[in-house]
Amino acid sequence: MHHSLINQACALYQQCFTDQKTVKAILQSPDTISLTTKFKDKLVGFVVGRIVLDEAEIFTLAVSPEWRRKRIARKLIKDLLNEFTKRKVNLVFLEVVTTNQEALRLYKSFGFYKVGTRKAYYNHSTDAHIFKKDLT
Ligand SMILES: CC(C)(COP(=O)(O)OP(=O)(O)OC[C@H]1O[C@@H](n2cnc3c(N)ncnc32)[C@H](O)[C@@H]1OP(=O)(O)O)[C@@H](O)C(=O)NCCC(=O)NCCS
Repeated sequence: MHHSLINQACALYQQCFTDQKTVKAILQSPDTISLTTKFKDKLVGFVVGRIVLDEAEIFTLAVSPEWRRKRIARKLIKDLLNEFTKRKVNLVFLEVVTTNQEALRLYKSFGFYKVGTRKAYYNHSTDAHIFKKDLT
């Protein structure tokens, strides 16, 4: 992600999630792929993934509350999956807390399916589903 957007992305992350994950390190890492949606110079959405060999992981996805339900997340995920495909990724994984209905619906609509559960993932209290999608 371009350095000028990192502070905005951290602020948006803090607005969307209550956990204290240090998202900055993830955004600054040269190993991650970040896609952004901007309106004028304001960051309104972003997604971050990482590829390791032929597998990829989607770390985080956030859309500014006032910009939701405009298909911004759908476009970000579609573009990220296309990027993974271009880079020869076969499998994509991600984790979603079991209570996040919006994200669950979104990922299911892309063909992700549950392959496991991680206990007490989020704030050490809520479980998360592990989702997978085959790109081949
Ligand atoms: C989840 C999130 C990224 C969705 O962003 P968005 O730009 O509003 O989503 P889109 O408009 O692209 O919607 C895509 C799909 O997501 C689902 N969805 C999104 N918001 C929803 C809502 N409020 N209720 C039900 N389904 C919803 C729907 O399946 C929707 O498809 P549809 O419009 O064809 O019904 C956004 O709500 C957000 O940032 N939430 C807080 C952070 C978060 O939970 N991130 C995901 C962590 S894994």
